[in-house]
Amino acid sequence: MPSPKSAIGLKFNAHPRLAGLEASATLAINERSQRLVAEGRRIFRFGLGQSPFPVPDPVVKALQANAHQKDYLPVRGLLPLREAVAAWFRRRYGLTFQAQNILIAPGSKELLFLIQMALDTILILPSPSWVSYHPQSRLAGNSTLWIETREADDWMLRPEALLAACREKLAGKTGVLLLNYPNNPTGATFTTEQLKLLAEAARELGILVLSDEIYGEVDHRHNHHSIASHYPEGTIVTTGLSKWCGAGGWRLGVAAFPEGLASLVDAIANIASETYTSTSAPIQYAAITAFSEDPAIDTYLDDCCRILTFVQAWVRESLLNSGVSVPEGTGGFYHFLNFETHRQALSARGITDSATLCESLLEETGIALLPGTAFGRPANELTVRLSYVDFDGAQALQQLALIEGDQEQAKEVLFPRILEAMQVFSAWVQALD
Ligand SMILES: Cc1ncc(COP(=O)(O)O)c(C=O)c1O
Repeated sequence: MPSPKSAIGLKFNAHPRLAGLEASATLAINERSQRLVAEGRRIFRFGLGQSPFPVPDPVVKALQANAHQKDYLPVRGLLPLREAVAAWFRRRYGLTFQAQNILIAPGSKELLFLIQMALDTILILPSPSWVSYHPQSRLAGNSTLWIETREADDWMLRPEALLAACREKLAGKTGVLLLNYPNNPTGATFTTEQLKLLAEAARELGILVLSDEIYGEVDHRHNHHSIASHYPEGTIVTTGLSKWCGAGGWRLGVAAFPEGLASLVDAIANIASETYTSTSAPIQYAAITAFSEDPAIDTYLDDCCRILTFVQAWVRESLLNSGVSVPEGTGGFYHFLNFETHRQALSARGITDSATLCESLLEETGIALLPGTAFGRPANELTVRLSYVDFDGAQALQQLALIEGDQEQAKEVLFPRILEAMQVFSAWVQALD
């Protein structure tokens, strides 16, 4: 909590809700990496999960053409954009949402927060989960019910675990289950069958599902399905431009609500109207192009996913060769590593928790990772998240043919930092034993 006295002697009290709140772990690692780079250190940026790819051309052109748009737009978002998003959900995933039940905001992170702000609820979170959900629920004054997962299930939530935990701990209170797939931090996703079972469980429990599908379009096999297909009346879907469109810094997110939650949409729009007012006008106009049907965007996405498939498989193989366990991620940008088999050797070096493990790796190898604790894992578990996006996505797209040819050459030319990091990593792990 900030000091109750400012540097110039004025007194202020931080709100108790802020107790324990720190800078978001992903942003903190990014800033730390930048500082180390400025000091001349060679840093492998495997901490922050930012798309390595450029924004597709038609979308950049649409933004250029709309640079003059200067008016405040409607709080809920520009109607043609909300219509384009509704059509996109129908086209890509067979989901039916009405444009009036779609909200546009500066990032899906903001929408996830506003949804929690608007609800007096218990947030139900599988562990591990993305870094910001739990702090957001605290800021919103809600409590969190963590549910354990198992490494054997690729750390994905099982319906039986959901049912058992909610029956025991929800005790008549309302709950919102937050699901994220493809998943950050694991890269894993649910099968259609698993989604159906989770939907049945949520319906039986009478809980809402907040389905964070920000990595849906970067499911490497283009095989993303939404739980909203199986639980349309109780699912809110969030997504945005950050991951599949390479536009994290543009800040545009989307939330789509079922018809029965129209009053919740109104409540969120009211909070938005008293806080950020509306999302940047030029970005919203450009987003219409991003969400519209365009073969050039389909090709771009295909190409991004081919590159990610290649890097994902190679990095995983290399990690497995070092004796670290890693689920087979099929989407997004992440691997979730467990160093349990090296516990004894690590412990001999004084490394017994994920934070110290990340510190040591950063100091000794320059590899920046995030500790499992940032995702809700126990401190003494030796899990860390690796984001395999430290490469030039524009170059990889231009020279895509290389990865279908001589793959060793492709690694050297297109992914030199990942190649070097994997060598450094494997040497570090070998030296442990
Ligand atoms: C799982 C997950 N959800 C949401 C977000 C936020 O995305 P946005 O840029 O739309 O706010 C991120 C960004 O890292 C994420 O990893």
